[in-house]
Amino acid sequence: MKIGEWIARITRLRSRRSRLVSGIRGSAYNLSTVKDARIRHSHGSRGWTAALLLAAVAVGVSACSGEFPQSTLHPTADFSQQIDTLYRTIFWWALGVFVLVEAALLFVIIRYRERPGSPEPRHIHGSTLLEVAWTLAPAVVLVFIAVPTIRTIFRTDGTAPEGALAVEVVGHQWWWEFHYPELGITTANEMHVPQGRPVALSMTSKDVIHSFWVPKLGGKRDVMPGRTTRIAFTPDSIGEVYGQCAEFCGDSHANMRFRVVVDAPDEFERWSTGQLAGPTSVDSLSGPAQAGAQVFMTKGCLACHTIEGRSAGVLGPNLTHLASRSTIASGILPNDAEGLTRWLRDPPAEKPGSLMPKIPFTDDELAALVAYLRTLN
Ligand code: CUA
Repeated sequence: MKIGEWIARITRLRSRRSRLVSGIRGSAYNLSTVKDARIRHSHGSRGWTAALLLAAVAVGVSACSGEFPQSTLHPTADFSQQIDTLYRTIFWWALGVFVLVEAALLFVIIRYRERPGSPEPRHIHGSTLLEVAWTLAPAVVLVFIAVPTIRTIFRTDGTAPEGALAVEVVGHQWWWEFHYPELGITTANEMHVPQGRPVALSMTSKDVIHSFWVPKLGGKRDVMPGRTTRIAFTPDSIGEVYGQCAEFCGDSHANMRFRVVVDAPDEFERWSTGQLAGPTSVDSLSGPAQAGAQVFMTKGCLACHTIEGRSAGVLGPNLTHLASRSTIASGILPNDAEGLTRWLRDPPAEKPGSLMPKIPFTDDELAALVAYLRTLN
């Protein structure tokens, strides 16, 4: 059966259906109760339609404002720039296809619609030209999409240029560890990198499959136990960009956030010098902070956390320079006295499934521990 015939058929069916429907409506209108119900119903659904439209407009408008720390549409590195270019290339191809198909559709619907007294459409059978054309056209479009796609895949395979800053990324349930092998720095959840210098990430996981994703810097990549995956990028803008684990990895997958802080080169120097300095000496502490250092050593914290020179636990984040970070608990709480208190009081309540248990601190112990942790800058 050919196109012309199909369209004629569908048009006939639709006009038959609409005659049928108006017949049913006509009889319904004779019954006043049914009519009232129908009117009430149509008013109700009109209200709903208006509300839905309004909600859609509100969502659309709100999407046009704000900062978008996790938008893929504002790339700030060469990796994300290449993905953005590819995305835009494919978008224009898709738009071209959409316009052509819709234009052809509208043309056929209007030009060949049923008119009163129009004769039965001419039956046609098989058009080799048309069939070859609509097979070839999508194939050509796919080739034009495939070539830049494959080229981008190879260009962003994680191979870093000479002199790149190496960072080892380890995914944990549910936080991120960042280790700078050449600098000897280990930190968590906030990765500092200098602007304009290539960064080479080699990533693995301690437990399950995670996925490293900083939309403004580049595409996501799986982080797996027993395997090393790579990402390379050169950040071009100073500032803080947000990242997120992008592979479901258990209860607190959505709480496995992190930040990448792109510093000016001299600021990065300052940061790395600070990280290389030892931790605050306990002897220099006094009051609650000194008591807090004792709490750290006696209440089990040392079993999971490293503070250089004091403890060597590796199950949780390295806390040597905890106070130099802006957030705790993988980006879910601000790193201030209030955030720390909330977190230490009941970690699993803040982060479901947290491996850090609830430790029964007294209020004094908690305040002392917070005071101590605030000194670790
Ligand atoms: Cu780690 Cu999701």
